[in-house]
Amino acid sequence: MSTRNYILKVILIGDSGVGKTSLMNTYVNQKFSDEYKATIGADFLTKELVINGSVVTMQIWDTAGQERFQSINVAFYRGADCCIMVYDITDHDSFVHLGDWKEEFMVQSAYENPETFPFVVIGNKIDCDNERLVSRNDVEQWCKQNGNLQFFETSAKESINVDKAFIAVAESALKRE
Ligand code: GTP
Ligand code: MG
Repeated sequence: MSTRNYILKVILIGDSGVGKTSLMNTYVNQKFSDEYKATIGADFLTKELVINGSVVTMQIWDTAGQERFQSINVAFYRGADCCIMVYDITDHDSFVHLGDWKEEFMVQSAYENPETFPFVVIGNKIDCDNERLVSRNDVEQWCKQNGNLQFFETSAKESINVDKAFIAVAESALKRE
């Protein structure tokens, strides 16, 4: 990787209510709200970071988890450099659905080498650990079976591991440059 400026497109996908918008707002604006406002169309925020001396502009695309907006979402998948798949540790279905999200992303984005495309898995809401329904171990197994995907548990609410996860996303996207 040479020293130049990079623009990386990363995309957040996953079920409605898992915290995609919240993760983006915590990371970019250090802001969190308990109020739920469903995302209805994809939109992005940018964040600049420096990695190995290069300025990296991360364009973070937040998509809608609700089924009825899926046809709009897929238009934004193309050209992504990394895909972040989010589930909620207190919602087992949101973990089960990761496979469908991954499949749909690969089909719609039409990459030539889907096996090497960087996905990062985020289990959000670890501040609610007492309501946990998805074990770390199950997700680690799933990540192994699905191409050795990187995995983080986060809390957008308490800003736990959020920076770390997004930096890992930027680094894995850069490896493709
Ligand atoms: P869609 O836009 O419908 O796809 O949902 P989303 O994935 O963007 O979820 P959103 O960020 O809107 O969060 C849904 C709800 O979960 C909101 O009420 C948030 O306040 C809450 N939430 C998000 N992250 C966390 C977290 O880390 N901990 C807790 N306790 N609540 C969270
Ligand atoms: Mg949202």
